[in-house]
Amino acid sequence: MMVCEYKPGLEGIPAAQSGISYVDGQKGLLEYRGIRIEELAEKSTFLETAYLLIWGELPTTEELAAFEDEILHHRRIKYRIRDMMKSFPESGHPMDALQASAAALGLFYSRRDLDNPVYIRDAVVRLLATIPTMVAAFQLMRKGNDPVRPNDDLDYAANFLYMLNEKEPDPLAARIFDVCLILHAEHTMNASTFSARVTASTLTDPYAVVASAVGTLGGPLHGGANEEVILMLEEIGSVENVRPYLEDRLQRKAKIMGFGHRVYKVKDPRATILQNLAEKLFAKFGHDKYYDIALELERIVEEKLSQKGIYPNVDFYSGLVYRKLGIPTDLFTPIFAIARVAGWLAHWKEQLEENRIFRPTQVYNGRHGIAYAPIDQR
Ligand code: SDX
Repeated sequence: MMVCEYKPGLEGIPAAQSGISYVDGQKGLLEYRGIRIEELAEKSTFLETAYLLIWGELPTTEELAAFEDEILHHRRIKYRIRDMMKSFPESGHPMDALQASAAALGLFYSRRDLDNPVYIRDAVVRLLATIPTMVAAFQLMRKGNDPVRPNDDLDYAANFLYMLNEKEPDPLAARIFDVCLILHAEHTMNASTFSARVTASTLTDPYAVVASAVGTLGGPLHGGANEEVILMLEEIGSVENVRPYLEDRLQRKAKIMGFGHRVYKVKDPRATILQNLAEKLFAKFGHDKYYDIALELERIVEEKLSQKGIYPNVDFYSGLVYRKLGIPTDLFTPIFAIARVAGWLAHWKEQLEENRIFRPTQVYNGRHGIAYAPIDQR
């Protein structure tokens, strides 16, 4: 067997062959199925992008209408799932609630008919349709309210904001939220996608695939960073405090949340688009002082860390957009998950098309031949 050098974090090791998305980290380029992210953000919708990612081509008018219609008719969650969520502690993190609820779907639809395209399509539709409803339901129930039913007159993004805030959103806010979902839908072999593919490779059900990916996304080094960015901006508190805050963190070798990336060595193209979206929201709904702090932070991080290729990543400006949309900070990562379900499902499907179970090796650095010591002699 070929012996490879151990690479912490599997840096530079291909874990799959994939035709879903492409990143050029030197040029700051991201494509979904060959289409530039900037173009999708301008012209597409989240559901059309999800279709593109999962089925590989942009849908025709009829295909898109059928897909949107199927999603629309599967948005409601079963009352048993709702009741289960009601018993979750209000103080629990919404990512944990989402992970448990996504896994619970498998209790209802566990039949693993992975060779059947109808089963695949149903699972795709069900997961895309119900995950936003679960996130919104947990948000209302932890405040002691009943969840709001999906509104059939509203599209995917607008309906989520409606279920969250119990009122129809402003059209600009809904469009911007939809673009955020497009931007977060997929990103090559990131940690949660790798997790999804590993789980998929065992031929388990897609609900377990998504639940494992949700668990992986939640950490502060990955999707959880969007929440941490806002907590950091709050802690900094003022533009004047940016430099001392940053110098203190760098001296302690602490990471600056929302900066740096394994692949991008320039500013993440999604961060640039999200920054523009935030500015559009500020122009219509009023400025946010944390944006000034964020701009100063980006400026000083560039001054100090650009030689290491450390620039804003997707999580740096997304929180400022969500804040302006009135979304609570601890829902930022579940919203990332709502979008990333599209990418995880695309990878699930791709993994199944040419599956081999993931079973890497390890470099053993433990001991050998140790005698078992009786408990009273340890
Ligand atoms: C996402 O991969 C994806 O696709 C993920 C994602 C997606 O769409 O799925 O893009 C979404 O997860 C974005 C990342 C969100 N995380 C954060 O913002 C947390 C802060 N960033 C980092 O911890 C870090 O940059 C990572 C986790 C994103 C990447 O980690 P790596 O590739 O393992 O890099 P590293 O930690 O080994 O850092 C390399 C060097 C180190 O310096 P040296 O020891 O070589 O001198 O860069 C420095 C690090 O100290 N560094 C940072 C830094 N990030 C890297 N220094 C200060 N602040 C940072 N944020």
